[in-house]
Amino acid sequence: MGSCQFLASLVLFMCCHVLSSRAWSVNNFLMTGPKAHLTYTSSVQIGAQRGIEECKHQFSWDRWNCPESALQLSTHNGLRSATRETAFVHAISAAGVMYTLTKNCSMGSFENCGCDDSKTGKMGGRGWIWGGCSDNIDFGENISKQFVDALENGHDSRAAVNLHNNEAGRLAIRSTMKRSCKCHGVSGSCSIQTCWMQLSDFRDVGNYLKVKHDQAQKLEMDKRRMRAGNSADNRGAISDTFSTIARTELIYMEDSPDYCVKNLSLGLHGTEGRECLQSGKNLSQWEKRSCRRLCHDCGLKVEERRTETVSSCNCKFHWCCTVKCEKCTQVVTKYFCAKRNRSRRPHNTRRKQRTRNS
Ligand SMILES: *[C@@H]1O[C@H](CO)[C@@H](O)[C@H](O)[C@H]1NC(C)=O
Ligand SMILES: *[C@@H]1O[C@H](CO)[C@@H](O)[C@H](O)[C@H]1NC(C)=O
Ligand SMILES: *[C@@H]1O[C@H](CO)[C@@H](O)[C@H](O)[C@H]1NC(C)=O
Ligand SMILES: *[C@@H]1O[C@H](CO)[C@@H](O)[C@H](O)[C@H]1NC(C)=O
Ligand SMILES: *[C@@H]1O[C@H](CO)[C@@H](O)[C@H](O)[C@H]1NC(C)=O
Repeated sequence: MGSCQFLASLVLFMCCHVLSSRAWSVNNFLMTGPKAHLTYTSSVQIGAQRGIEECKHQFSWDRWNCPESALQLSTHNGLRSATRETAFVHAISAAGVMYTLTKNCSMGSFENCGCDDSKTGKMGGRGWIWGGCSDNIDFGENISKQFVDALENGHDSRAAVNLHNNEAGRLAIRSTMKRSCKCHGVSGSCSIQTCWMQLSDFRDVGNYLKVKHDQAQKLEMDKRRMRAGNSADNRGAISDTFSTIARTELIYMEDSPDYCVKNLSLGLHGTEGRECLQSGKNLSQWEKRSCRRLCHDCGLKVEERRTETVSSCNCKFHWCCTVKCEKCTQVVTKYFCAKRNRSRRPHNTRRKQRTRNS
């Protein structure tokens, strides 16, 4: 599957970097790869996968829905661009890797790492002290940086943008951490509490980064300086530009293509055939508008498809001892974007075409 391909390439890139070698094979990695890195490889893969699953969830009712073709992160293919969406992919993958490594660490999966007890025993605030097991995000950040940022081997502004977005993803893990506390004191009086910092659900990280995606800033490089420039000048221009942007914000360089339209050379499938939500319990405002966003606004119509499912129902217990059920059919209605019917009026076609062309 595509995402496996992505993971393979992630690991491959990381390996090549570690080994500084183009001729890569599993065997020579296993034999010569640094042991420290080997320890983390599976967590890095699982973390990247977690990031991608969250991406698919966050964008399930958007025109761009985090397709497999978007997951080619680095320089090894010609599709590389730096849109809002690639910014999100970078951030959420980096976050997923850091998150998983940090969780693993707290669970005691790695010998060289455990809870962050740097503050344990210190006064935290009024009525509480640091205690318990704070998640060791310094560890997760450090290791994930070594793996994920190593994928970026360019030195141009595009590479700088990707690295910035990786960093923003890791900072999202920090920003969404929560304090958890436990009460102590006579008979639950809670006169004193111990507290620790813990990771939020990864869903919260996804929600947080989705907002950052919506607010992403377009990077405007000083083009004159870039064009004139030798590489030192370029680097100067890049770092000047970046100094104005907060590390927590996602940035992009190119406007997104039209995600309504199929464009296979960009790896985009368009919205025709996509499911959207029209009715149903408890839809969010964003979900309720999905048919308009995916179909109508893309020049498509909404097509209703009904499927019947038969299942057992109204089961009754009879003495003794049988259960008798009826068969119920349930109709499930789903909605999909489909091509609009051209109104076929043969006599008119010619005239219409002529007027359109003129
Ligand atoms: C790290 O955590 C993931 C799930 O969060 C788990 O599947 C994986 O096995 C863990 N890795 C190690 C080395 O324990
Ligand atoms: C990050 O990891 C490297 C290598 O494992 C280690 O030398 C360094 O001290 C770590 N830095 C932090 C801030 O944890
Ligand atoms: C696909 O995208 C490329 C690059 O933006 C563009 O040049 C091309 O015209 C597009 N093709 C179609 C069929 O829209
Ligand atoms: C509907 O959504 C709200 C908030 O998202 C939630 O609290 C509530 O439990 C949901 N109700 C049902 C029936 O799913
Ligand atoms: C519209 O298209 C559908 C499926 O392509 C077809 O079944 C239907 O008869 C068409 N309706 C009209 C009015 O042309």
